[in-house]
Formats: sequence, C-alpha cells, structure tokens
Amino acid sequence: MTLNLIGIATTGGDAPGMNAAVRATVRTATANGLIVIGFERGYAGILANESRFLDARAVGGIVHLGGTFLKTARADEMKTPEGISKATDVLKQNRVEGLVVIGGNGSMRAACQLHQASGIPIVGIPATIDNDLAGTDTTIGFDTAVNTGLDALDKIRDTATSHERVFVVEVMGRNRGFVALEVGIGAGAEVILVPEIKYDIDKICQRLVESHRLGKRSAIVVMAEGAGDSTDVAQAVRERAGFDVRLTRLGHVQRGGHPTAQSRLLACEMGAASVEFLLDDKKKHMTGIQGDRIVPVDLEYASTVEKPIDERLYKLAIALAT
Ligand code: F6P
Repeated sequence: MTLNLIGIATTGGDAPGMNAAVRATVRTATANGLIVIGFERGYAGILANESRFLDARAVGGIVHLGGTFLKTARADEMKTPEGISKATDVLKQNRVEGLVVIGGNGSMRAACQLHQASGIPIVGIPATIDNDLAGTDTTIGFDTAVNTGLDALDKIRDTATSHERVFVVEVMGRNRGFVALEVGIGAGAEVILVPEIKYDIDKICQRLVESHRLGKRSAIVVMAEGAGDSTDVAQAVRERAGFDVRLTRLGHVQRGGHPTAQSRLLACEMGAASVEFLLDDKKKHMTGIQGDRIVPVDLEYASTVEKPIDERLYKLAIALAT
C-alpha cells in the first residue's frame, strides 16, 4: 500500500531521547514524501483527537533535549476495549495510514491491541528508562538513566565514606532491575537488590557486617523500586546490623536530563528505521537493536515476553564487592 499520512505519539513514562526519536521519524518521513501528524500527550491525545502537523522545521532544536515536546501521559483507557475502539475511530477520522508509537512496555502492549482492532500498521520505538522490552538489547533513555544514577551514586559515596555510613539508594524500576544492576555495578555498590532475584535480608545484613569486619567502614545498597520497600530495608540494616543508615530515593531525577550520546544515536537510528519499516509494509513491529543491527521485533513478543536480567553481571557485582 502507498502511504500518504502517518501519525506519531510519545506515550507512557518519558525517556531521554524521545525528542531525538520524533525528530528522526518526522524527518525521514517527510524526506519520503509523507505527511506527519503528531498526537499530543500520547494515547490520551489520540483519544481526545488532539494533533498537529509536523514538518522538518517543527522538530528543529530538540535532538539534545530530555522529556518529550509532544508531551506524554499514562492512558488507562487504552487498557479497555472501549478505549481501543475510540482510538481506532480517531485514527481513521484523521486518515492515519501508519502510526509510530514511542514508549515502553505498556505502550507497546496497547499498540499491539490497537493494530489488531484497527488494522492500521503500527511500528513501536522502545523508549523507557526501565529497558524492560524483549527483543531489543536496550531501549532509548536507559543509558541516560544509568549515567544519571551513577552520577548521584558517586556523590553519595563521598558522604557515605566521610561519615562511615551505610546508604540504601532506591532507583527506578517498578518491576525490573536493569537500572539497579548497571548503576550498582558501575558505582561499586556492596549490595544490589533487584525484583528478579530473591534475597534474604538477614544474609544481606550478615554480608554488610562481614565487610565491616574486613575493614570497609561504609557501604552502599542499591535497590530497584520493585525489589521491596526501601524503608524496611534501611530499617532492617539499621536494627539488625547496627549501622548508621541513610535512605535516598533518586526518583524522577532519573527520567530527566539531556540524553547521552548512546541514547541519541539509538533514537536517531530507530526513528529512521520506524519509517522504513512502515514503507516496507511491516504491520506490528518494534524497532529492536540486537548487537549493532536494528531489527524488526514482533510487537506482541516485545511486550509480553519477559526479558531476562543478566545473572552473570549480578554475580560479578557480588564478586567485586569484597
Ligand atoms: O517509565 C518507567 C518508570 O520510570 C518506572 O521506572 C517507574 O516505576 C514509573 O515509571 C513511575 O511512573 P510515574 O511517573 O507515572 O509515577
């Protein structure tokens, strides 16, 4: 089918590099003679029928900016058949013949259902700091979030060492521990807690006591949000191991900031590939990166299969934290 008009939206939690991905998609599309309309606030904007035309100039000056100039939102309505059907009607009213959805796991799941209901070809671009999509080695924004986390951890290390304290640092990752694992390894954390790997808090406390006995006067425990209640962990380490403990939650700081070179490059490549996929008649695919190649990944696979955490890295972190 010849394409004339495509839509684009950034959805779910924002991720640094989303702007670069929109820019690459719009510029590749217009270079191929396509008209692009951008929906505001992700699926919420599709449901409310809020869009504007985007040409090459409309996406100037944003490649280096965090957040998303198209805005984003969590749209729970897309989890219902009524929401999917309303979105289908709006896309058809606007004569959208292909849609590019830039977002995380929930966004890809909704994209899959929207394609099934509407028949409109949809290409997803994985952009989430959580890195929790299967079929792609990494996602846009993940590298930036890890570097932001590392920067914070390096600062916390200074004060932890000076005061001889234990810090429990909670990083983002509602269900997955990719951010915690990479931040923890890079920062030389003494303990890393992720949702994917069960832990025994008594053994964690024993490990901290043992490392204190061996001469370590301070320690950092990095934990993902989804690995339990960080207040409870801090309290347990205070009471059972007897350390002076402080708790820091990095929170949404990790979602902002200028994208790193890696996040920008990935966004540029994936944005361009999303248009190539649509022109190539791909109907429900996500742009994945495997090694150094951009590959099409089935949307359903990407959003339903659980990407495994690298246990080898987890063991390496423990081995190095002596
Ligand atoms: O986008 C992913 C994420 O940042 C998770 O790591 C985190 O748990 C969640 O979003 C926070 O969502 P919200 O900004 O809607 O509170």
